[in-house]
Amino acid sequence: MAKAAQSLFACSECGYSSGRWFGRCPGCGEFGTLVEEAAPATGRATAPSRPLLRLVDVDVEEAERIPTGVPELDRVLGGGLVPASLVLVGGEPGVGKSTLLLMALRAMSTERRVLLVTGEESSAQVSLRAARLGGAAAVEVLAETELETVCATLERERPEVCVIDSVQTLYAAELGSAPGSVAQVREAAARLLRVAKESGIAIFLVGHVTKDGAVAGPRVLEHLVDCVLQFEGDRYRAHRILRAAKNRFGSTNEIGVFEMTGAGLVGVPDPSELFGHSEAGEVGAAVACTLEGTRPILLEIQALVAPTDLAMPRRVATGVDPKRLAMIVAVLARHARLALGSADVFVNVAGGVRIDEPGADLAIALAIASAARGVAVKEGLAAFGELGLTGRLRPATQAERRLEECVKLGFGSVLAPKGTPSRPTLAVAEAETVREAVRSGLEAAGSDDR
Ligand SMILES: Nc1ncnc2c1ncn2[C@@H]1O[C@H](COP(=O)(O)OP(=O)(O)OP(=O)(O)O)[C@@H](O)[C@H]1O
Ligand SMILES: [Mg+2]
Repeated sequence: MAKAAQSLFACSECGYSSGRWFGRCPGCGEFGTLVEEAAPATGRATAPSRPLLRLVDVDVEEAERIPTGVPELDRVLGGGLVPASLVLVGGEPGVGKSTLLLMALRAMSTERRVLLVTGEESSAQVSLRAARLGGAAAVEVLAETELETVCATLERERPEVCVIDSVQTLYAAELGSAPGSVAQVREAAARLLRVAKESGIAIFLVGHVTKDGAVAGPRVLEHLVDCVLQFEGDRYRAHRILRAAKNRFGSTNEIGVFEMTGAGLVGVPDPSELFGHSEAGEVGAAVACTLEGTRPILLEIQALVAPTDLAMPRRVATGVDPKRLAMIVAVLARHARLALGSADVFVNVAGGVRIDEPGADLAIALAIASAARGVAVKEGLAAFGELGLTGRLRPATQAERRLEECVKLGFGSVLAPKGTPSRPTLAVAEAETVREAVRSGLEAAGSDDR
């Protein structure tokens, strides 16, 4: 018995769908995000079966990666672009997604056929940007938003690499909902995935992000693609950070650092040079030696401890997980006898970088201790090490690499957990507990350490 055409209500934030409307999405708890869509046709077709293949018989000649010509992008992708893969690049408006991808296309166009599908800007606007960046003459452009046309063109032209800017502008007429809606975005990604795999085209999808920074549209998009890259940055500063949130072909810890200039994005191969310097004698600043993927980075951490009348003092962090900060403050209060109970604590990481690695704990603690005591951290000192809840320092991973970076940047001494190997040109001050570390890391500390 044929059912009447039904409509479906799907959440534009998380992709939850239901047969009836809710004011608040049961999936993600957002209000007013459920929108009506036509239910997909559920006709059952019989399909022929296909023969199976053993893994040893699979052809692997296509596994060679394509260098994108932007070293920082290659690093985040895990050593280049995998042919026939689908990469989603998300980022806030104006962060530089189109610029980054146009630069990659420009570099790749010298050796292979590349196509830019633009739904957001006209060909003339793209050409203006290309003129500003220079040398993108061989990049082919298609200004189109009709999904069917884009797929058909890709199948006929078969460029090696294609950029879709953006997936939210693509529109499949038969779906009936507006461009950018859950169903449209999902359909566009699924169709492009098929084209990518069947025609061997590596596709970059540009995606907009929601107010909380997730790629807009359903999360299902993130499951579909091979790689999700997030392009972050402070709009008011020139530095941009590219990181992988998901990568089927590489690590998700790598970051790429760029600087936005008039001539486009310039890779910053040595971010420690930029973010790892603190003013000598400045109270509340410490240098952390953290690890992002395989790359050690020195970052200046700044802290401010200010008296407050609030019953619940504030702990505000930019670039550090607030829970981690709360833990570090608690460990300092309990084990290093810092009176932080009636003070607001603010922590900031240089350059808008976000630290996820526990190896930076010690430097954060040092910066806070320095701010609380009003005593500067010793000159030319970098620190790394994980803080345990018992106040004991745990060894950080890959200590050798971190020490090497400190030597490279001209640091004279390093404060590290016990057991860290020493180096000839670098004084390694070992500390067993956070209290010991605070005492030996601060200038003239100890006078206050009762
Ligand atoms: N002449 C210029 N000099 C310096 N920076 C510029 C110049 N022109 C553009 N920019 C930078 O490029 C950014 C825009 O880059 P781009 O268009 O690639 O961003 P986008 O992420 O694609 O944005 P959208 O989401 O709106 O498409 C601007 O925010 C600005 O910082
Ligand atoms: Mg753009």
